[in-house]
Amino acid sequence: MLRTHTCGELRKNHVGQTVILSGWVQGIRDKGSLLWIDLRDRYGITQITIETEHTKADHVTLARSLGREYVIRVKGKVVERYSSNDKILTGEIEIHPEHLELLNASVTPPFTIEDDTDGGDDLRMKYRYLDLRRNPVRKNLELRHRMAIETRNYLDKKLFLEVETPVLIKSTPEGARDFVVPSRMNKGEFYALPQSPQTFKQLLMVGGFDRYYQIVKCFRDEDLRADRQPEFTQIDCEMAFVEQEDILNTFEGLIKHLFNRVMNIDIGTLPRMTYQHAMKYYGNDKPDIRFEMTFIELNDWVKNKGFKVFDEAQLVLGICVQGAASYTRKQLDELTEFVKRPQLGASGLVYARFQDDGVIKSSVDKFFSPEELQKWAQAMQAQPGDLMLILAGETHKTRKAMSELRLEMGTRLGLRNKNTFACHWVVDFPLVEWNEETKRWHAMHHPFTSPKPEDVSLLECAPEKVRANAYDLVINGVEVGGGSIRIAKKDIQAKMFDLLGFSREEAEKQFGFLMQAFEYGAPPHGGIAFGFDRLCALFGGADVIRDFIAFPKNNSGRDVMIDSPSSISIEQLKELGITMNPQD
Ligand code: AMO
Repeated sequence: MLRTHTCGELRKNHVGQTVILSGWVQGIRDKGSLLWIDLRDRYGITQITIETEHTKADHVTLARSLGREYVIRVKGKVVERYSSNDKILTGEIEIHPEHLELLNASVTPPFTIEDDTDGGDDLRMKYRYLDLRRNPVRKNLELRHRMAIETRNYLDKKLFLEVETPVLIKSTPEGARDFVVPSRMNKGEFYALPQSPQTFKQLLMVGGFDRYYQIVKCFRDEDLRADRQPEFTQIDCEMAFVEQEDILNTFEGLIKHLFNRVMNIDIGTLPRMTYQHAMKYYGNDKPDIRFEMTFIELNDWVKNKGFKVFDEAQLVLGICVQGAASYTRKQLDELTEFVKRPQLGASGLVYARFQDDGVIKSSVDKFFSPEELQKWAQAMQAQPGDLMLILAGETHKTRKAMSELRLEMGTRLGLRNKNTFACHWVVDFPLVEWNEETKRWHAMHHPFTSPKPEDVSLLECAPEKVRANAYDLVINGVEVGGGSIRIAKKDIQAKMFDLLGFSREEAEKQFGFLMQAFEYGAPPHGGIAFGFDRLCALFGGADVIRDFIAFPKNNSGRDVMIDSPSSISIEQLKELGITMNPQD
């Protein structure tokens, strides 16, 4: 037998029992007459204490030859410790071995297998199987497992069926680039990996499966960020015979269930915010509402006073940062640099400190009288001790920059606590947005998203004003999920394709199978997909989803452990009908 117990299991009530443990050597301390081995497995650490005088000589020799990460089996008695260690769960006991056996040796690991390891990111990714032995990584994956179980429990109770959809498919309409797979049997042709199971889940609705879900891998060839991986997992869901309200209620239920069961937190009813409100007051369609600091539009208060920057601006926006009037010149310069970075592109930052003595000192005192500054304070509901920060420029750009500045201030002031969760829905997204590069309307969600019936008449004359039956779930400023009610009527779908610039032939070629299916009695339907990795990371208090994925890719989309992607042989390429011309 290799083990009777795990390394995290033994307590005082096991004292006197003879047990067998197997695991990895976390560390050894050798004091001559006494030798301690910390034995580790997934469940914890148990101390093995060897009194050299009372232990067989070959066992002592073996123990002295062990190194970090050697795999051993120990048979011995559970003994109460002389002085207990309350830092570990098994701290009250130790094992006095009768038998010690080497199961496998280990070369010296490239980094320490400890909570605070000395291994950098690259090294840990290359030796991910060693990183997985570390508590923090293991805990993240345990959390992920719990989340998956609880998701299945909830959806199963609500009569959802988990159905697998294919991975070798053709282009899906999520708007990123596809990963493609060449077909050997159909030379010159390619499968695409699904960016989501969108079209299949809609076909399942036509197939009568009225409540579908799948915890499913999706693939998107897009630029990577902390919360993006090229292959990631969705909790993908679709329902038939529903309206938007039914979907929001069902999946608000899922999120509440997860918070409840996994975190023991009651998040209450989720507030709803329109897209328009989110953009106007937070400059962002996924606002972090853990803190206020909402935008105040100052055009009426600041224009025509001779300050060119404000006079020429489309929008002048302010935020009131409570208690930050004491910000030093250096800190304000830092903030100015922050908004002037090319990604934000603000021309500068105007500030006004509302001093404790009631006087307001601004960076534009030359143009604004004390009375005028008091009016700003009124508009921004600033109190003595507060700092007013103001940006001006083109509407979209200014909102974007202010959104980043707001988040930065929230972080600096400690208002974005990872253990506080603010969840909400953003609803009424626009159906389409204008893309300057392609000079075309693009679907904001995807081309099957239904316009609000009351806005359909605007489709031809003012598409930008058409609101969609589309919604996002946002937690702490992270877009965790998104979905929509789908278009179930052929004429509206045709109008949508027209608007998006698809010719009939193109639409037929790409989505003809779906359009055809819809001719056979498609039920009204809609759905949502949650970014499972993002949800896990949020629950785990992290920004980076990589640590919640067993074998993630690095920032360049590489798996450095298996060294992928990699080149393939000329023979393989030939077989696939792919010619590589270095001149191209
Ligand atoms: P959407 O494209 O909004 O919708 O994706 C749903 C959710 O998936 C997560 N997500 C990602 N997570 C990690 N890495 C990525 N590269 C990545 N891309 C997206 C986000 C996002 O909210 N088929 C529709 C859903 C529907 O309409 O039902 C869809 O895929 O958390």
